Amino acid sequence: MHNIVILISGTGSNMAAIVQAAERERWHEQPGARVAAVISNRADAQGLAFARERGIATAVLEHGGFATREAFDAELAALIDRHAPALVVLAGFMRILSAGFVARYAGRLLNIHPSLLPAFTGLHTHQRAIDAGCRFAGCTVHQVTAELDVGPIVEQAVVPILAGDDAATLAARVLSQEHLVYPRAIVRVLSKQ
Ligand code: GAR
Repeated sequence: MHNIVILISGTGSNMAAIVQAAERERWHEQPGARVAAVISNRADAQGLAFARERGIATAVLEHGGFATREAFDAELAALIDRHAPALVVLAGFMRILSAGFVARYAGRLLNIHPSLLPAFTGLHTHQRAIDAGCRFAGCTVHQVTAELDVGPIVEQAVVPILAGDDAATLAARVLSQEHLVYPRAIVRVLSKQ
């Protein structure tokens, strides 16, 4: 059985979509996977309640108490490794990870980013796409490497940018695609392992 550990910081709608896809598509049969744990760096992350209600192990590790990024990441890795994960999935986990953390999970660390990478790495992706006059936006699931929002692309989805869109309406359109793309990317990566 492939264990999946999902890291969140907030709403956790991508995490919920992954959990629901795993149930609906019977991932325990094929590709032989389950969401083993959801870990948040914020105690108030809404997604934690969803995971708990489904009997998924949860943990909170707040970064405030750590002197360095490396110290936080080492503790986070210890929490993750309890579940011997085949895949660590960043789902709205709003922290930059240290090079050591990324190296530890090389090849089994995925992120979703709300743009069509390599365009618009970083924050405020939707407003920047609108301001640039883009006709299309989207989302990207990629393998995580040391550089932020760079790394081999696993899946993407495209949505139109419509007249009158603002960052919020575009974000909602992209997010609905994220919920489809992330489960698909996970199945693809696990099926190759
Ligand atoms: C998603 O749109 C995700 O792509 C984005 O945060 C949102 C989290 O939503 N991630 C990033 O911006 C990472 N740089 P969720 O908590 O409802 O899944």
